Amino acid sequence: MKICVVGSGAREHCLAVSFAKFSNSVVVTPGNPGIDEAYKSLQISTSTLDPTDIEADLFVIGPEGPLSEGISDKLRGQGKIVFGPGKDGAQLESSKIWMKNVLKEASIPTARFGEFKEFEPAKDFLNTLKDGYVIKTDGLAAGKGVFVTRQFDSALRDLKDKMEGKSFGQAGRKVVIEELMEGRELSVMALTDGKNIVPLTPAVDAKRCFDNDEGPNTGGMGAFSPAEFIDDRTLDLVLEKCIEPILGVFKSRDINYRGVLYAGLMLTNEGPKIVEFNVRFGDPETQAILPLLDTDLASLIYQAASGKLTEEPKFNRNKTVNIVLSAHGYPDSPQLGDKIYFDDDITDLEPGDVKLYFAGVAKNPDDEGLFTNSGRVLSVSSTKGTFKEAREAAYDQISKISFDKMHFRSDIGKVAVEIESQKQNSKLL
Ligand code: AMP
Ligand code: GLY
Repeated sequence: MKICVVGSGAREHCLAVSFAKFSNSVVVTPGNPGIDEAYKSLQISTSTLDPTDIEADLFVIGPEGPLSEGISDKLRGQGKIVFGPGKDGAQLESSKIWMKNVLKEASIPTARFGEFKEFEPAKDFLNTLKDGYVIKTDGLAAGKGVFVTRQFDSALRDLKDKMEGKSFGQAGRKVVIEELMEGRELSVMALTDGKNIVPLTPAVDAKRCFDNDEGPNTGGMGAFSPAEFIDDRTLDLVLEKCIEPILGVFKSRDINYRGVLYAGLMLTNEGPKIVEFNVRFGDPETQAILPLLDTDLASLIYQAASGKLTEEPKFNRNKTVNIVLSAHGYPDSPQLGDKIYFDDDITDLEPGDVKLYFAGVAKNPDDEGLFTNSGRVLSVSSTKGTFKEAREAAYDQISKISFDKMHFRSDIGKVAVEIESQKQNSKLL
């Protein structure tokens, strides 16, 4: 099968590698120059053509931007088979207010919230919250439009900045304010053809920029999979109570949704609650989950895209730790244009258990090699029999890569290793 993947990040690189593993040929548009250099043994290329000018059996849309601009509708209008919702379904991610109202209609558990366009009523609502404050821009902000705090004064300041258009321009003028939920967070992604739904194994994403979950929210600084702390019963509950009811609302609104339903969840004392929905594969969760998939992803996605999803994905028992290497200053103002150095020639890769996925990289006409080109630069993904081994191998690979003021979190997967070791100890007792 010839597959066109739309996007340019590590997620799209990982999707391409997963497809190519099962002998599919893949073109990534626009891709990035790292994708062209890595995994030369696989049938992966990049193209600068617009997706509407590419011939392929299946189109898979990576990022939320093109989805919310209606790329799937356009391609479907040309008779193409597309995995990714139309503009209508993509609102689940492109407007937090729309999403919250869908959750309400489907009786899906989530944080108490209010939506505001005016400062005074927003401030009054803040005053009704006790344990903490969460302020979100309504529009897309690449995972960075959310401010979480326990301090009323900081909440008020953030609210003001957003509503005056200082911090997020127009996207910030409409806000959702939520109560703060507490618990462990995890991401459950499910593939759907609009009627049937199959979950992928869950992953845990590290959202904050610095170790110990400190610093600003980012698109994601790393992930591990499977999520060691969720059992099958809770996962069934998540599907039944938090994800499947969405399809009922879509049906009533005549939305034919074919793509990923990504539920960002908080496992609270009162049960799982939705933090957010995304309408595409998570980045970096995808780089943690797909190496564990034994089924041909292209076949699953083709079924979903053509409205006939019957196959169940099979996952092996390995563990993956994925670590993002980001530019200094990410997420606010990343320092760009720095040369990236690799110790061995690790860009000419054979797909193995430690993989390198390229994201914000570019070429420079005056110099050979690759240069940093956006906040999240590279994604190192390591899959082994245990989290301990996977984590060690991932950090070992990172020690072979450098660029000026390269940043990464040093605690990705730490909690998974701790839980794994507790489980092993309790088996020995
Ligand atoms: P979102 O873009 O809505 O997923 O929010 C980004 C991150 O902010 C989430 O992954 C959580 O870590 C945090 N967050 C968002 N909403 C809440 C909430 N109501 N309570 C606690 N944390 C939240
Ligand atoms: N890692 C979070 C996201 O993809 O939105």
